[in-house]
Amino acid sequence: MTHAVTPPAPTSVPTGTTPVLEARGVFRFRTADGKQLPIVRDVSFSLRAGEFATIMGPSGSGKSTLLHLLAGLDKPSAGQVLLTGQDLGGGDEEYRAAIRRTRIGFIFQFFHLLPDLTVEENVTLPLRIAGENPKKHAARIDSLLQLLGVDKLRKRLPVALSGGEMQRVSIARALSTQPPLVLADEPTGNLSSKAGEEVVSLLRQVCTRLGSTILLVTHNPRDAAAGDRVLFLHDGALRDNQELTGGPFLVADVFSRLQELGI
Ligand SMILES: Nc1ncnc2c1ncn2[C@@H]1O[C@H](COP(=O)(O)OP(=O)(O)OP(=O)(O)O)[C@@H](O)[C@H]1O
Ligand SMILES: [Mg+2]
Repeated sequence: MTHAVTPPAPTSVPTGTTPVLEARGVFRFRTADGKQLPIVRDVSFSLRAGEFATIMGPSGSGKSTLLHLLAGLDKPSAGQVLLTGQDLGGGDEEYRAAIRRTRIGFIFQFFHLLPDLTVEENVTLPLRIAGENPKKHAARIDSLLQLLGVDKLRKRLPVALSGGEMQRVSIARALSTQPPLVLADEPTGNLSSKAGEEVVSLLRQVCTRLGSTILLVTHNPRDAAAGDRVLFLHDGALRDNQELTGGPFLVADVFSRLQELGI
């Protein structure tokens, strides 16, 4: 039996101008070979409501580490992460877990669906963990399953799904509590090119139709091209004034920017 923890009340009421997510001078150091090395270095940026942003960077550039910090799964060594104006570092692990459960949806490379639960049970699990009765949200969950094209699969177990179907189910799960922020770590990394393209196009639709704010981390230029904005991470740092804005982009434009930046 899971006991719901009431999420802490926001310290400030978000307004139209409060960013959904804000990183302020975030650092993360790790110890390797007896030395303290910066894995994430002085990262600052903010995301507006309804933005679909991507962070690109080569393997080892710190993308997953940064995403974990933004999600409150890990604490910055210095700096702050604010979610709808509320400092994620302002409390203990229980406080961060309560925020994560209701205000952040996660999409992982390897789906992380529970094998013994049906599609529908997996999708509504975050609601039940948050102490909600899924029946009260039935109409919304139905339209979510339809939007993701998995409504006919609702009674199936994950073992009977393709990779693309599993990822679409995990997107529906990430959205089930209507979180202000959705974070995705390489959501197409384990999919065929075609299934990956479908998943990214669905994320685009989710952003447009539901007004979700999405931050997707990837090293795939095609995924990044679907976003409104691309930030480039090198050795744990975002370089000033190098982001692409005004997307969706042509994949060729993302490629040429990567070449200009030498990454
Ligand atoms: N727990 C850890 N302890 C020490 N070093 C770590 C730890 N986790 C990651 N690192 C190091 O931090 C750096 C960034 O790792 P991270 O996983 O964030 O990169 P990434 O950009 O997500 O890479 P990929 O594209 O391969 O997923 C790497 O050099 C990695 O070896
Ligand atoms: Mg990674």
